[in-house]
Amino acid sequence: MNASILKVARIGHPVVRAVARPVPAGDITSRGFQRFVDDMVVTMHEYEGVGLAAPQVHVSLRVAVIEVRASDERSHAAVPLTVLVNPVVTPLGDERVHALEGCLSIPGLRGVVPRLERVRLEALDRDGRPYAAEASGFFARVIQHECDHLDGKVYLDRMDDMRTLSFLRELHRHGPDVEDPEH
Ligand code: NI
Repeated sequence: MNASILKVARIGHPVVRAVARPVPAGDITSRGFQRFVDDMVVTMHEYEGVGLAAPQVHVSLRVAVIEVRASDERSHAAVPLTVLVNPVVTPLGDERVHALEGCLSIPGLRGVVPRLERVRLEALDRDGRPYAAEASGFFARVIQHECDHLDGKVYLDRMDDMRTLSFLRELHRHGPDVEDPEH
């Protein structure tokens, strides 16, 4: 795979706060779009992220990738590489869970974010085929985090107690035993 590592946009760059455009259906199988998906995957791997949304690499399109490797020491269930094109997320129930989140566009920080425990995801895959999935727990959390990026939102906007915002280094020194995913 001849893919490139892309530069990650951090908060303060307007692209992170823009509402991304849908990918035109006819573009999905194009060489350029396929190459872009490959670039997103290698960029996610390079930064050891569990997810990455296109606006985080300066491309204002409704695309995200998610992957939690089985070999990952983090205690979460593995999620196979999932490409989300023009995703739609629907709540399943109203149960919310609070957990720490980090973001590649806000490096080094973590905060406690309430998220829906269960969601339904509908999207196109990288070949333009529609799929649907029901997700819970960490996978559901990552889906909500990435799809927020497509609407110009970051996890800070979802926090209900800003006092939990912490530098990862300080959490390691003083806090609970935390994992370190950014996405
Ligand atoms: Ni993020």
